[in-house]
Amino acid sequence: MASEREQPIQQSESLFVNARRLLAIESSCDETAAAVISEQGDVLSNVIASQFELHQEFGGVVPEIASRAHVARILPTIRTALAESNTKVTELAAVAVTSEPGLVGSLLVGLTAAKTIALSLGVPLVTVNHVDAHIFACGIGKETSIFPCVGFVVSGGHTNLYDCRSATDFSLIGSTTDDAVGEAFDKVARILGLPYPGGPSIEQAARSGDPRVWQMPRPMLKKPGLEFSFSGLKTAALYAARGVPGPDQLTTTPPERVADLAASFQEAAVDVLTVKARRALDKTGHPRLCVGGGVAANQRLRQSLAAMCCEARVELCIADMEYCTDNAAMAAIAWEHLSDGNIAQLDADVLPGLIRHGALQKS
Ligand code: KG4
Ligand code: ZN
Repeated sequence: MASEREQPIQQSESLFVNARRLLAIESSCDETAAAVISEQGDVLSNVIASQFELHQEFGGVVPEIASRAHVARILPTIRTALAESNTKVTELAAVAVTSEPGLVGSLLVGLTAAKTIALSLGVPLVTVNHVDAHIFACGIGKETSIFPCVGFVVSGGHTNLYDCRSATDFSLIGSTTDDAVGEAFDKVARILGLPYPGGPSIEQAARSGDPRVWQMPRPMLKKPGLEFSFSGLKTAALYAARGVPGPDQLTTTPPERVADLAASFQEAAVDVLTVKARRALDKTGHPRLCVGGGVAANQRLRQSLAAMCCEARVELCIADMEYCTDNAAMAAIAWEHLSDGNIAQLDADVLPGLIRHGALQKS
C-alpha cells in the first residue's frame, strides 16, 4: 500500500458550493469505518476495517490495541470510501464523525482525522452521537421518515430505549442498570467456551438447542418501567453451565449443555427486550419501533419483535444487517444536524460516556 505521504489530501478553496456529499467517519470502538453519503441519504460507499482478529485472542476489545489499529487503518479506510464512491475530496460538503460515546482513544483517532480533513478542505465538521446513529440506521434506504418512533439500541455498550420525536429530538426513557445486552451475550459465550464475538456464537449454538431446558430468570419484568438488568441472567447462565460454587463446580461446560444453555439464555434475553419495547410503545403512543445496534442482527430477537409489533399494530423497522453493527453510513444523521445549523467547532472534544438528552426520565 502506498505510504500516507504519497497521497496528500488535496486542498481547495471554493469548489464546494454545489457539493452534496458527506464523508462520515466512525471509530468509537473496534471497527474503523468510513462512508460517503449523498444529501438524499444514499449510501455511496460503506467501508469497514474490522479489528476482529486483533481482539479475538483476548475475548473482548482491548482499548489500547483498538486505538493503535485505528491510527494505522483510518486513512486507508477513508481513501477506500472515497474511491468506491467515486468521490473527489473537493466534492465533499462536510465531514461527520462519531464523537460520543465510546472508547476515549478510539474516538480521538476518528475525531482528529475528521477535524484535519474538514479544516484542510474548509468544510463544516459535524459531530455525531453513536447511539443516535444506531437508531437513524433503521431509516437508511427507506423512502419515508422513521420519525416519530420508539428508538431501541441493543448493542455491546447499550440497551437504551428512546422517545424519538424527530431525528434530532430524542429523550432517553429506559436503560440498563448494569450490563448491556450485547455484553451479556459476549460474557455468556465466554462462559460456554464459544468464540468471540459472543452474540453470533450464541445465536449459532442456540439453533440446535432447546430453550425450555434451563429456566433462566427474566430480570426486571416484574418491576414496572423500562429499566433493564442483565448481570443476574449472566450469573444464572454461569451456574447452569458450571454448577453452583462449591467443591464440585466444573471448570468447563459439558458440551451437551452448551446448545440448550445458549438457547435458554437467548430466549430469556429476547423475552425481556420484547416486553420492555412493548411497554415503551404503550407509554409513548408512537406508531413505530426502530431497532439498531449489533444485537439487532439476532434472528430470534427479530422474530419476537415482529410478532409483538404485529399484535400491537405498530410498524417495526430494524436496521438492515449491514447497518446493525458499527458502521459509518449511520452517521448520515449528520445531514439532519447540518440542516439545523449544528456545526462543531475545531476544538470539539470526545465524550466517552453517554452524557446526553438530559437525565433518564423515570417511567
Ligand atoms: O453495535 P455493535 O457493533 O457495537 C457496539 O456499539 O457495542 O454491537 C456489538 C455487540 C456485541 O456484543 C455482539 O456480541 C453483539 O452486538 N451481536 C449479537 C449478534 N451480532 C452481534 N448479539 C446477538 N446476536 C447476534 N447475531
Ligand atoms: Zn455500536
